[in-house]
Amino acid sequence: MTGAARAARGRRIVDMFGAEPDRLERLTLDAAGLHLDLSKQAWTLEGLDAALALARACGVEEARARLFGGERVNRSEGRAVLHPALRAPEGARFRAGGEAVSGDVEAVRDAMRDFAEGVRTGAVLSAAGRPFRTIINIGIGGSDLGPRLVHEALRALDGWLELRFASNVDGHDIAAALHGLDPAETLVVVVSKTFTTQETMANAAAARDWLRAGLGKRGDQHLAAVSAAPEAAAKFGVSPDRVFAFRDWVGGRFSVWSPVGLSCAARFGWARWSAFLDGAAAMDRHFVETPLERNAPVLMALAQVFNANGLGRRARAVVPYAQRLRLLPAFLQQLEMESNGKSVTADGKPVPRPTAPAVFGDAGTNGQHAFFQLLHQGTDVIPVDFIGVARSEEGPEGAQTKLLANLLAQAEALMIGRSEAEVRRELEAKGLDRVTLDELAPQRTFPGDRPSTLILMERLTPEALGALLALYEHKTFVEGVLWGINSFDQWGVELGKVLAGRILPELEGAAEGAHDPSTAALIARLRG
Ligand code: F6P
Repeated sequence: MTGAARAARGRRIVDMFGAEPDRLERLTLDAAGLHLDLSKQAWTLEGLDAALALARACGVEEARARLFGGERVNRSEGRAVLHPALRAPEGARFRAGGEAVSGDVEAVRDAMRDFAEGVRTGAVLSAAGRPFRTIINIGIGGSDLGPRLVHEALRALDGWLELRFASNVDGHDIAAALHGLDPAETLVVVVSKTFTTQETMANAAAARDWLRAGLGKRGDQHLAAVSAAPEAAAKFGVSPDRVFAFRDWVGGRFSVWSPVGLSCAARFGWARWSAFLDGAAAMDRHFVETPLERNAPVLMALAQVFNANGLGRRARAVVPYAQRLRLLPAFLQQLEMESNGKSVTADGKPVPRPTAPAVFGDAGTNGQHAFFQLLHQGTDVIPVDFIGVARSEEGPEGAQTKLLANLLAQAEALMIGRSEAEVRRELEAKGLDRVTLDELAPQRTFPGDRPSTLILMERLTPEALGALLALYEHKTFVEGVLWGINSFDQWGVELGKVLAGRILPELEGAAEGAHDPSTAALIARLRG
């Protein structure tokens, strides 16, 4: 990869189109209803071939087969990783560690459908005999970001249930979620794989108290739960027939397809929820069946590794030109950085090269007026994923075309840049004196040659959204294979949790602990 990157370094991306007549053809493709353009990446076609050879040498095809075959690819936790089983059509035959799981997946999906549809249609009534009007989804990380993104992305679709979210242990979050609601018409869905997460447990207890304050003991009838620890949910007070379980082979950040999506299924209806799953299943088929050369997740992963390892790019921006996808960067931060933010391999050795770059972003065009200055002229080159939606009828006439014009313009500008000579010519024509010209011209020059990938969907439908999220899931997995790391554990989040558990009683004045001088001084200040 580094050799290929060295070769590409001397060449400008824009010039590669002339030198490589089949560049566009080889680097654009369609997958599960999405169109991808990777031709503005910094690789030559030779570089692409080297990247594909690397993928084969690293065993991407074999790893893919192991994942879909239900082998325990999450080695450090001894678990299979089978989120594709959750979105497979009826009759699939997934096995996790040898055990048949598709029948169980379908049974839970049916129970989830009955409950979600019951809530949506009013067949499931509140303890007060009224239809539910609001659902509060309480969860954090993978138990929040996926449903929150789906809700935001699809909320233009009709439906009269209001969906709110509470994730942060900051008391403001649950207070804001409950604000103005009538407990008699509110359903609280507690989502937690482990059912031990501090933030979720605190918010769930607050919501349960609120329900009980309004409805007495009947308030518990307004609780539902989604968890891989169903006994813990029942112990919390959720009626067992309202606990929707999933298995430990579903990773939190890959869990939106499981009952974790319950509140979205109720909000949007089962037909749309199924369409969302179908879109992801179509991307699964593409990923499994397509040769690496035309495989969308594989090519996206290779582009990232080419940028990160070949060219030393330590960050990537994600800019969806769709306000409704503005939460995609936050979702991808967990998916990519929690999965691949690691410095040791799956067998415990230090990784020999950098792994996941930092991911950040915002909706376009908003981001253009915030961080794009740095993308165009900063000292770091930051590759960008642009996501576009070809057609939308929302809002005033012409708005969508303006949005698309900005999308194309930004990707083009990043690549072609603007030379100092051209800027000088323009300023000279304006009659600027030499001193001003020498000062201004470099500042108004755009280096260009900044890579990007563009993903285009026809419309922001549930299917397209499902395909997009599955595309990023598989891309993340392939990167993990290329880096030799386990993308499915997250030991790096543990230490902070343990220390928070120690510091809490110290802040409450109930314990004393030994700390570094800085932390000790801050604890004293906050306790005082
Ligand atoms: O941040 C760590 C983490 O374990 C994530 O991986 C997970 O999505 C999140 O916490 C929430 O966990 P749970 O669903 O068990 O409450």
